[in-house]
Amino acid sequence: MKQILIIGIGAGDPDHLTRQAIKAMNRADAFFLMDKGPSKGTLIDHRRRLCEEVIDGTDYRFIEGDCPERIRNVPNYRSSVDDLNQDKREVFEWMIDEQLADGECGAFLVWGDPALYDSTIRIVADIAAAGRLAIDYEVIPGISSLQALAARHKVCFNSIGNAFQVMPARRLAEQGFPEALDSVLVMLDARDTYTGFVGQGLTIYWGAYVGSADEVLIAGALDEVAESIRDARRELREKHGWIMDSYLLRRGAAD
Ligand SMILES: C[S@@+](CC[C@H](N)C(=O)[O-])C[C@H]1O[C@@H](n2cnc3c(N)ncnc32)[C@H](O)[C@@H]1O
Repeated sequence: MKQILIIGIGAGDPDHLTRQAIKAMNRADAFFLMDKGPSKGTLIDHRRRLCEEVIDGTDYRFIEGDCPERIRNVPNYRSSVDDLNQDKREVFEWMIDEQLADGECGAFLVWGDPALYDSTIRIVADIAAAGRLAIDYEVIPGISSLQALAARHKVCFNSIGNAFQVMPARRLAEQGFPEALDSVLVMLDARDTYTGFVGQGLTIYWGAYVGSADEVLIAGALDEVAESIRDARRELREKHGWIMDSYLLRRGAAD
């Protein structure tokens, strides 16, 4: 039997690591690294630094897997994600089967919280259910980028007694601002989707690289700050080569 830990590491601030995450990291013999794209170097360095900081003298190693990329600009988004997850599953299986010995413990250090827009739990569950590899797995929650965003802006996700929704920007663009809600948290925006909602009396709380030394925050009436956010996104993407940002959109004026 091999033990797999899926550990949420928070969204960029080393102090996001919980005590539970630190204890789990100290149980691991190996850490799987699978970042991709222009942010790969920064995100891998962050994970390596976290290990150096919190692991107490025990030996550990890194197992690097080739992270497949999703094929973009295809008509069927869902099937492109299914294909990506199938490719990822093959890499996970190789790392677990061939790079981890029987009785060892391997850990995925998942950005933010593993339950939020991340497929690691689903893929590991599928591998366990298939039964070819004898694995047992645990999930350790982390501070998500949305919690970090709300904390830095000192706002709540919801207005009093009301529901809110978390959605990828692609859905916001397709469906519009949900009629029955007053608060929407938006992730994975590659296209300045918020600019399509100017003139609707919304407030935006936006943040990039939240929790890290590069953090940038902008908040205000969307009509007044949309252009500054768009400029900031363009400049930051040029400066760093990549951007990770998210935002809360709320009907009405700031709290
Ligand atoms: C694939 S999702 C992973 C989310 C992650 N599991 C979490 O709990 O935050 C990646 C998206 O999370 C958001 N994100 C992650 N880290 C962020 C950060 N430090 N600041 C702002 N947004 C962030 C961005 O919207 C990014 O496109």
